[in-house]
Amino acid sequence: MLDLKDYGIQMWDEKKIASFRLTLLNWYDQEKRDLPWRRSQNPYHIWVSEIMLQQTQVQTVIPYYNRFLEWFPTIEKLAEAPEERLLKAWEGLGYYSRVRNMQKAAQQIMTDFDGLFPNNHQDISKLKGIGPYTAGAISSIAFNLPEPAVDGNVMRVMARLFEVNYDIGNPKNRKIFQAIMEILIDPERPGDFNQALMDLGTDIESAKNPKPEQSPIKFFCAAYLHGTYDKYPIKLPKKKPKPIQIQAFVLVNAQGKYLLEKNNQGRLLGGFWSFPFIETDLIGQQLDLFEENNTVLESISKVATFEDTYQLKPQWTNQTFPSVKHTFSHQKWTINLKEGLLSDQPSFQDQSRKLEWVDPDDMSHYPMAAPQKKMLEAYFKNNK
Ligand code: ADE
Repeated sequence: MLDLKDYGIQMWDEKKIASFRLTLLNWYDQEKRDLPWRRSQNPYHIWVSEIMLQQTQVQTVIPYYNRFLEWFPTIEKLAEAPEERLLKAWEGLGYYSRVRNMQKAAQQIMTDFDGLFPNNHQDISKLKGIGPYTAGAISSIAFNLPEPAVDGNVMRVMARLFEVNYDIGNPKNRKIFQAIMEILIDPERPGDFNQALMDLGTDIESAKNPKPEQSPIKFFCAAYLHGTYDKYPIKLPKKKPKPIQIQAFVLVNAQGKYLLEKNNQGRLLGGFWSFPFIETDLIGQQLDLFEENNTVLESISKVATFEDTYQLKPQWTNQTFPSVKHTFSHQKWTINLKEGLLSDQPSFQDQSRKLEWVDPDDMSHYPMAAPQKKMLEAYFKNNK
């Protein structure tokens, strides 16, 4: 076990730890937010809520959570859900690998655990998409096991409590906060203890707008007592997302239908539908490659033009559209739209691509993620 002294952290004595637990839990009993998943002890419900809450705020999550459990009331129903329905349930939440992994984990539970959510930390941790934070949250909230749930909020609160001089953005440092929490966590009420810190971290001890005076634990907080609150937590700047140029093609046929393509699995936004698009930076990258190796010529032409990629010869219009911007955690897309007309409704030979002609009124039935919706908006706003 890690020795906190090696990290410059002086842990409290037993009496102070007991007093801290009591103070935090008393505050939670009075102030806790009434949230739908807090009315349930069902591990499946807790799991759904924790996955949704990973990148999304509580107020946004609530309607998604309720609908998700209506659509997939049991682990079995989730395991069997068709992909389109799954993505539709998550549409707007982003980070779609979360829900795909949930389905894989649901299937794991059906095959490896007889359809029953595992009731111990070790088995919970084996489920797809469940990392240390989520395993701790489910273990403590649904099964009352004394497992910390260390996320950014908890690290921030701990960093201030103990003036931790280690970057909370560096995954290597997570173990320090885990070790602090293993000592502090209340063995009788671990789920409430973890959730109290979550509530505190999202509001009174938030990153952007903290109100240290209002914190129920301010007299335990070294940063508060020493006037160093502004310095903690230590968080070094992250790498900027890489800029990527995208060319998207809005093809309209004689019936007024639009060409939509389903993204391949494995590509970013796999499984979602959108106007066909090409990453134009790729052209440059492949040309570089070409200079070294003649054999890539064929693949250059495949990414380089719409005509070669889709075997269509549209008549391009001069219509212009506002460019669309979308930032993922690691990439920043700038998408330019180009409109082309076709006089017939060709079918497609290339079986590796999933393409369909779609009436604008039917587009809402096709799962689309945020950048694709923005493309539709940019196009239709200018064109209708
Ligand atoms: N954020 C992550 N998990 C949470 C929970 N159980 N309650 C409130 N906010 C949370």
